[in-house]
Amino acid sequence: MMNGHTQLYGIIGNPVRHSLSPVIHNGVFRRKGFNAVYLAFEVHDLDDAIRGMRGLGIGGLSVTMPFKAAVLPFLDRLEGVAKKIRSVNTIAQEDGMLIGYNTDGSGAMEALEEKMSLQGKEVMILGAGGAGRAIAFSLKERGCRLTVANRSLEKGRSLAEELGVEFVPLPIPAGTGIQAEIIINATSVGMHPLSEESPLPKEMLPERMTVMDIVYRPLRTRLLQEAEERGCRTIDGLEMLARQGAAQQRIWTGQNPDIGEIKKDLREAIIDKFETLNSKF
Ligand code: ATR
Repeated sequence: MMNGHTQLYGIIGNPVRHSLSPVIHNGVFRRKGFNAVYLAFEVHDLDDAIRGMRGLGIGGLSVTMPFKAAVLPFLDRLEGVAKKIRSVNTIAQEDGMLIGYNTDGSGAMEALEEKMSLQGKEVMILGAGGAGRAIAFSLKERGCRLTVANRSLEKGRSLAEELGVEFVPLPIPAGTGIQAEIIINATSVGMHPLSEESPLPKEMLPERMTVMDIVYRPLRTRLLQEAEERGCRTIDGLEMLARQGAAQQRIWTGQNPDIGEIKKDLREAIIDKFETLNSKF
């Protein structure tokens, strides 16, 4: 029951209506019995939105496109990997101070670390956008040996240089042997409505390795289907999505939510959304 003590959380972005974060956080609040609600705010003026957060005492906000970097000047302090990558997906308000975090990288690390130790592993990351950067920096921190692949050469090279790792163009030139034990897709290739596409041709996928995709619409991307056919272990986009949300809950409430329950809520929401999408078009 909402009452005069209900704490407000939310997500700011534009577009934001399709976000699954309200599903994650309202599900956790409900199960844990927290007197809190999480809403999606379609923001046109970031300055106004952050002023509103301070003025209304909003406990925490998730930040998504196109504000992850733009929000930095409005914050009092950055924590952890957010400081290095200059990108924030989470704001917590504590005693009137706005503190910026990034849980994308740690969400991906937890999804991988559940399956294996990362120390010393050879990893290829496809994509050097916001998510790719967060994941790449987190992998480097965990002691992985990295290769960055990206379509835009300048952006990819610059990330590889910052990290002191190798760069290859995407699509990866034919005949390039991929040595990686782990491949992570952090591009949007394979996402609905381009679900017929894959960032790597099947014949380039090494056999019996680990392939993770951050795309979650559809959940079984073409990349993951083909990786399975090559005998690889696969990790789908729900894993990182659920875990970056769980990390936000730890920041805001100090509680560690159940990942299995979050994934269950997300799976139901994704199925619902797809049905709505299909009936619309
Ligand atoms: P996010 O926050 O999800 O990472 P982003 O910052 O826009 O989103 O990054 C999208 C990533 O997907 C980038 O690496 C982008 O490559 P470019 O740097 O060349 O733009 C990659 N991407 C998107 N569409 C792609 C496509 N059709 N082929 C290859 N890479 C693509």
